Amino acid sequence: MLFVPGDSEKKLSKGDESPADALILDLEDAVAPSRTQIARGMVLDYLRSRTDRSKQQLWVRINPLSTPAALLDLVIVGGAPDGIVLPKVNSAQDVIQLSHYLEALEVREGVAQGAIRIVPVATETAPAMFNLGSYANCSPRLAGLTWGAEDIAAALGASTNRRENGEYDHVFQLARALCLTGAAAAGVQAIDTMYGDYKNPAGLEADSKYARRSGFTGKIAIHPAQVDVINAAFSPSEDEIAWSKRVVDVFTQNPGLGTVGLDGKMLDMPHLKQAQSVLALAARFAK
Ligand code: COA
Ligand code: MG
Repeated sequence: MLFVPGDSEKKLSKGDESPADALILDLEDAVAPSRTQIARGMVLDYLRSRTDRSKQQLWVRINPLSTPAALLDLVIVGGAPDGIVLPKVNSAQDVIQLSHYLEALEVREGVAQGAIRIVPVATETAPAMFNLGSYANCSPRLAGLTWGAEDIAAALGASTNRRENGEYDHVFQLARALCLTGAAAAGVQAIDTMYGDYKNPAGLEADSKYARRSGFTGKIAIHPAQVDVINAAFSPSEDEIAWSKRVVDVFTQNPGLGTVGLDGKMLDMPHLKQAQSVLALAARFAK
């Protein structure tokens, strides 16, 4: 998902060319408050002029529900966005509140009921950190959870979110882990946070692969050059596909066995499930 500042004509037009699965047209932190009203109009026009979303979904990040700006941002419902990224949530209660707004606004704007999905940025406030287990069954609109390490740092009074060795400090690793676990508990996608060092593709590749190994199914990009790197890292490699086929084969050939050996490695049901999900993902990407 590629973030595009909602008030930048140039960047919005560049979004069209991007192989990102989705753009997130931003009305929040990437837009100066003096430009928010202009950005709302630009984002609405952008959505209205792009009704074919088969190649790229169009999402909008609105302002937090705790601010008056959020309701004004929802003028963009008229452009039938595929979804809304909701920042600075405190819990699933915020997703439920936005769902209620959308139920009314979809009717007013003639948008199909329930069409607009929601992805909260679920680790940006201190209370949010205690509520990552709250999202299961909160709304059929919930499409995923994502996390951020910047706003929570500010909320905690931290001067940096990194340790001296460059790794995220514990509390931010906890945010990442709780986002991943909360998403799994809710049965939705976990979408990894952005990698801010946009001129470091090797670092981005390593970070993306780490995210995928952990269970994230996608990642946020902030610069167009990041999208190909992320897409490659989140696509199963030839080696992975070949190995997964062998794992599935060995279980298929030995239907009575719950555990088998392959190349000197013990395999049991979790390995079979992992292999099946790699093959399912590869089949979806092959379409
Ligand atoms: N979406 C679309 N186009 C973008 C883009 C983005 N997120 N970021 C950069 N571009 C465009 C630039 O306009 C430039 O276009 P040009 O070649 O026609 O001049 C081209 O891509 C190369 O950009 P570059 O010069 O390398 O970067 P920059 O200095 O213009 O911008 C950022 C750097 C970080 C400010 C910019 O990438 C950006 O705005 N990112 C998104 C920020 C955001 O939305 N943050 C909120 C979520 S954390
Ligand atoms: Mg922010």
